[in-house]
Amino acid sequence: MNSCVVGLQWGDEGKGKVVDILAEKADIVVRYGGGANAGHTVITGGTKFALHLMPSGAVREKTACVIANGVVVDPGTLIEEINGLKEKGISIEGRLFISENAHMVLDYHKLEDKLREASLGKNKIGTTARGIGPCYADKIGRSYALRMADLRNLDRLKEKLRKIIDYKNKLFGALYNADPINIDEIYAQCCEHSKILKSFICNTTQYLHEAIDAGKQILFEGAQGALLDLDHGTFPFVTSSNASALGLGPGCGVPSKHVERLVGVVKAYATRVGEGPFPSEQDNEIGQLIRERGHEYGTTTGRPRRCGWFDAVAVSYTARLGGITEIAMMHLDTLAGMKELNVCKAYRINGKETTFFPGDADDLTIAECIYETLDGWDEDLSKVQNYDDLPENTKNYIAAIEKIVGVPVGMVGVGPQRSQAIFRD
Ligand code: GDP
Ligand code: IMO
Ligand code: MG
Repeated sequence: MNSCVVGLQWGDEGKGKVVDILAEKADIVVRYGGGANAGHTVITGGTKFALHLMPSGAVREKTACVIANGVVVDPGTLIEEINGLKEKGISIEGRLFISENAHMVLDYHKLEDKLREASLGKNKIGTTARGIGPCYADKIGRSYALRMADLRNLDRLKEKLRKIIDYKNKLFGALYNADPINIDEIYAQCCEHSKILKSFICNTTQYLHEAIDAGKQILFEGAQGALLDLDHGTFPFVTSSNASALGLGPGCGVPSKHVERLVGVVKAYATRVGEGPFPSEQDNEIGQLIRERGHEYGTTTGRPRRCGWFDAVAVSYTARLGGITEIAMMHLDTLAGMKELNVCKAYRINGKETTFFPGDADDLTIAECIYETLDGWDEDLSKVQNYDDLPENTKNYIAAIEKIVGVPVGMVGVGPQRSQAIFRD
């Protein structure tokens, strides 16, 4: 059975951990969207991995790893990651497959991301500065884009780079008064990247279709979260890809009929990094408590994450959007010791109650949460191994969320380690 793991909130739900656990039974793990804006944490015993471009399956040496066409690949970051894995004794030789059609993020994309954000001042998006938006914009615009296949033909790449750098220099000079970018430096970097990555670049769509024919088990790893989806999230405070499960097909060329199990990952509360509406945010001592207990600081940028109550209106919407078949709820341990817990079950917008997530982020900005209040628990959950052994109030909390969202919770997280996950029958 093929599975897909996606975030149902604003990212950082614990996808890395869930993918790592499910990868035990997978032959192939596929990243199909986003780029090095992602930060997926996997903790195995005493070793911690923070993966940005490599699929989380990379830490298991028998798993093949695919970086599919929908990913925007920063070759320098990918090489750093490959080297980091090597230092931890993990080789990806012979099991990494990078799509020739994946678009390439280069330094000028990161520069553009930073210049634009700085120019926007208080209207900024709060991006990760990894060049994601500018690279996807070049992809959509077509004329000034580079793909991984270009690393296989350096003469052609140099020709394309000349045109691109000329265009970017005019643009950045006029808009931001920026210093010109040196084409020789960028080209030299590409030559280095080519030496290291060339042998991994291939037709990943063909690879996946053949794997499906051969009955291999494939696990698709979503990046970011559905509320950051370009088309269906809280636009404009989103990322530049289809970060919900809907991005899977275009992101890797596999139709959804081949994916039977769709696991939506949530935290037992809500977090968000960057700007944008967040109706259940607790910008107070409750949020602070969750942040400290849950170590809620960005894996990619180190920024403190905004924290708040679980928003079941948002998650009902994203679960439907992704055709989610089960929920994995992480960080239940983090909520221990809170007397009462709130779950947002409806919004009040301009005096009107709704249980449907608004399509317009402006409505979300003025939405007030209507909460269901549940009793908390004091017990330390970090050593609990069976679902039945969870405190009654914890089970009640999960049941209340299941009822509103309408999807069963199949796995819960009680700590960051691979072993700290409980499966429900
Ligand atoms: P991702 O982007 O969805 O993969 O999530 P991140 O790795 O960015 O952030 C999730 C954080 O929560 C990481 O530091 C994980 O190690 C940690 N984590 C995951 N599951 C649990 C859990 O059940 N309990 C606790 N306390 N931490 C968890
Ligand atoms: P993972 O895969 C949390 C957020 C940024 C910003 C917005 C746009 O670890 O869950 P971008 O750099 O993509 O243009 O930034 O999206 N963002 C994430 N937030 N987790 C992520 O990935 C994110 N990737 C992007 O903070 O608000
Ligand atoms: Mg993350």
